[in-house]
Amino acid sequence: RVTRHYKFDIKLQKVTRLCHTKNIVTVNGQFPGPRIIAREGDRVVVKVVNHVNNNVTIHWHGIRQLRSGWADGPAYVTQCPIQTGQSYVYNFTITGQRGTLFWHAHISWLRATLYGPIVILPNRHIPYPFAKPYMEVPMIFGEWWNADTEAIINQALQTGAAPNVSNAYTINGLPGPLYNCSSKDTFKLKVKPGKTYLLRLINAALNDELFFRIANHSLTVVEVDAVYVKPFKTDTILITPGQTTNVLLKTYNHHFSGATFLMSARSYATGIAAFNNSTTSATLQYEQSSNSSTPSKPLALLKPTLPFFNDTSFATNYTKKLRSLATAQFPANVPRNVDKHFFFTVGLGLRPCPKNRTCLGPNGTMLAASINNVSYVQPNMALLQAHFFRQSRGVYTTDFPVNPLLPFNYTGNPPSNIMVKSGAKVVVLAFNTSVELVMQDTSILGAESHPLHLHGFNFFVVGQGFGNFDANRDPANFNLVDPVERNTVGVPSGGWVAIRFLANNPGVWFMHCHLEVHTSWGLKMAWIVMDGKLPNQKLPPPPLDLPKC
Ligand code: C2O
Repeated sequence: RVTRHYKFDIKLQKVTRLCHTKNIVTVNGQFPGPRIIAREGDRVVVKVVNHVNNNVTIHWHGIRQLRSGWADGPAYVTQCPIQTGQSYVYNFTITGQRGTLFWHAHISWLRATLYGPIVILPNRHIPYPFAKPYMEVPMIFGEWWNADTEAIINQALQTGAAPNVSNAYTINGLPGPLYNCSSKDTFKLKVKPGKTYLLRLINAALNDELFFRIANHSLTVVEVDAVYVKPFKTDTILITPGQTTNVLLKTYNHHFSGATFLMSARSYATGIAAFNNSTTSATLQYEQSSNSSTPSKPLALLKPTLPFFNDTSFATNYTKKLRSLATAQFPANVPRNVDKHFFFTVGLGLRPCPKNRTCLGPNGTMLAASINNVSYVQPNMALLQAHFFRQSRGVYTTDFPVNPLLPFNYTGNPPSNIMVKSGAKVVVLAFNTSVELVMQDTSILGAESHPLHLHGFNFFVVGQGFGNFDANRDPANFNLVDPVERNTVGVPSGGWVAIRFLANNPGVWFMHCHLEVHTSWGLKMAWIVMDGKLPNQKLPPPPLDLPKC
């Protein structure tokens, strides 16, 4: 067991992409930010010092944070923001996880530029459940805006209209050769023939699910969200914001010497989602072997063919292939019995325009998003502090509806009143409650896929389907043997997904759509998990440097 120390200086850095130069908020001047590397069981200590004018927090996305909820990071949920000139030390231990995760800012839209990979190597004595790769390469997808992203979301929230979409997708911060002015801004991976590479794919994009494919190569998926899966081959992967996917890439033997292939990603978008219809690419360049006379192939011939932007049947088939390894060494501990069932609708809605304002949303309203028709409104104190010090009054209420406020045909005609309620409402769970949660997409403003992310836990995806969830019929088909275990799941467009988790981590745990625009509109809520009776089932008090609001 080792302690890994990092220092994150939050500071501005001038960066040019697509021939536009702007100052962006970075960690240590790097974009994307530095890589955190640790081994399963290690302690990670990151001192974050804020040198910019924005308030900042950092979230370690997918890290379980067992009894270390004070280090989780979402602003006004587990902590108040780190203000200008202040610092906070995030301190957590990586327990029972190995694989790829990522860190990102968790306040407003700062994660547009504040993100980086987390690589968790397995315990020294427990090798990968697949042959050791020749090389490991993190590839992190993002989005680039020429304009200032904080200005974009602030203006959108003022007017109630949808924010502008990004100008480019990026791979390791670089848009790649299919954009104007970008060929030199391309991530290049040089490979040797006949070797296996482990690509650690991370979707850190703000608002778009992505398809990813490498021309003329197939991929073997071996892990998602830092949990091993049963390996399967595919040409294309689907990855939502908040998800990570490890794939093995086997390079061909010599006949491609000197050739270059594009590795490309573009949007999967359904419903009314506004999206950037462009393609980011990195290059896969085969070493030129000295004894080969094969000429390099021209780039244009070696582009991958990606699914269409709205190819939900590809998305469905792909997600159905994801299964837990479920071996004796890596078991799938699916909760068998359920203590509490919840049914949450997730989707978009509208909010009345505040007085004295002109709203540019549909019919003079503001766009909103909700869970069970409750659109979350951020209090000005952190939920976890309010909970721990028993000062919830004026911060949150515990009347989050366990069922939709108004049941209707979720995937058919929307109800006549599509206005959302608002508030900071939470669900309180006793320690060790076994939870089943069905999340149902609604078609109120068009059906749309929502990548829902839960903090503090992994969950098992026991079922999914299209149309309205049927509580009498559908549970009979749930997979309790080898369902995929992860931290972010796409609620299918016009369908539902069922997850199970064991609430064995005391604290306050955020759950939200990882499309940042939907989070901004209120598609979020929190679970409070009470302490258990034993000393090792209780959340310790906060660190002394926890920021104040
Ligand atoms: Cu990746 Cu609540 O976040």
